[in-house]
Amino acid sequence: KVDPSTETFVGSIDQGTTSSRFLIFDTKGEPVAVHQGEFSQIYPNPGWHEHDPEEIVKSVENCIEGALKIFEKDGHSKESIKAVGITNQRETTVCWDNKTGKALYNAIVWTDTRTAALARELKARDGSDKLQDICGLPISTYPSVTKLLWLLRNVEKVKEAYEAGNLAFGTIDAWLTFKLNGGPDKNIFVSDATNSSRTMFMDIRTLKYSDEVLDFFSYEFDLRKVHMPEIVRSADTKAYGQLTSGSLQGWPIMGCLGDQSSALVGQKGYEPGSAKNTYGTGCFLLYNVGDKPVISKHGLLATVAYNFDGKPIYALEGSIAVAGSGVKFLMNNLGFSQASHKITELAETVQDNGGLVFVTAFSGLFAPYWIDDAHGTMFGITHHTERGHIARATLEAVCFQTKAILDAMEKDSGHKLTELAVDGGMSNSALCMQTQADLVGIPIIRPKMRETTALGAAIAAGFAAGVWKDFDELKEVNTAGQTIFEPKMDDASSKKMFKRWERAVQMSKGWLA
Ligand code: G3P
Repeated sequence: KVDPSTETFVGSIDQGTTSSRFLIFDTKGEPVAVHQGEFSQIYPNPGWHEHDPEEIVKSVENCIEGALKIFEKDGHSKESIKAVGITNQRETTVCWDNKTGKALYNAIVWTDTRTAALARELKARDGSDKLQDICGLPISTYPSVTKLLWLLRNVEKVKEAYEAGNLAFGTIDAWLTFKLNGGPDKNIFVSDATNSSRTMFMDIRTLKYSDEVLDFFSYEFDLRKVHMPEIVRSADTKAYGQLTSGSLQGWPIMGCLGDQSSALVGQKGYEPGSAKNTYGTGCFLLYNVGDKPVISKHGLLATVAYNFDGKPIYALEGSIAVAGSGVKFLMNNLGFSQASHKITELAETVQDNGGLVFVTAFSGLFAPYWIDDAHGTMFGITHHTERGHIARATLEAVCFQTKAILDAMEKDSGHKLTELAVDGGMSNSALCMQTQADLVGIPIIRPKMRETTALGAAIAAGFAAGVWKDFDELKEVNTAGQTIFEPKMDDASSKKMFKRWERAVQMSKGWLA
């Protein structure tokens, strides 16, 4: 065994939409142990998407044990792990009873569109146009607020807890820290601003709950009666408490970042003007705009990039609801293959998309379109269409939306990006990344180590624990071995492809109207 005083590591819980993971990073930002576990995806009705909150906690606990086993087998000792960070799927909403610590309903996942009618109702109310300037987000099915209102209206147990004054609401970070700290005994109930900024309740400038927003949404239920987590810094030695069970019992949690902010940190996007695109379950492009939020006029979101020291840094965000989940759809629902890399192989069997465009609007369309009633639609099917074309069109759908987001970002910020850092599962596909470069006309930079989301949370926790002092110390992290995809397609062809996509988007609206 290596003497623990000679080594330093940081743990990172990565609680994503389709899997949980625990990774242990060394001070060079290299993961030395990883364990991943999937959990149930619950789709009770068309457009509904839920997770079992207790199963999520268990999956995280299993991952910690699994990674630790590998870590110790390799001769390291857990005493050399200085702190643990958390990164998580954002917006996903959990309601629990703060006296018993028990969840009152499944978590409603960020992709869920059951609140489309409610979102329309809210948009029609006086003052709805003022909210985005305060909280950075437009009303849609995506932020947590509509999910909470739906739960209050439709779930008896939630209503009862509300009436009794015991209703706790939180995003996954708040739920996890509460549970990992042992629940109601310690009652650690916190969230960081990168997560709170996704609820709509937080004033993006003050990082406090906004009275104006709470008033707007309180026409049926008084949201001040709902317990909401205290908003704390993304790196903090005390606020997040500690793990109270398992092999890392007593280890402090010192960092927390919503997964997309975490990936920006992990990609070292600290300078204003730097950007990253993460192709996970969905795909999210974050562009660092510095110490003042930019409220979008072109369909993007203003969000908090991170708040390590009380001086928040902001990002403009383009959110795409379906990326890896489109590939999963081909595998699970259409029986295309059992491995995601095979979808790329299938896409490579054809020269081009053969005129096929697949608008993968399974959760409506997010940025920059925000069309709640768009549905998944394929255009251009002929006798020539093969499975390869469908695979290719599924990958291309994400690249087209990224192109639309970059155009919107240029309009909002007045700057054109000169390169784009990428990560996430679909970035493993060279075909997809080449298509991306061709469509946006700038180089796509793919790092060798692509666990950047988990690395971000480790950096947050590592800052608090004093493992790294500042960003300068991270300069050398994950610099070697990157792949650069240069644009190769001629301008006219890429414009033609994109024009077709934009037409398809317009035609995918209102199918079930
Ligand atoms: O906003 C949703 C996002 O945080 C989910 O990320 O990586 O699970 O697609 P991911």
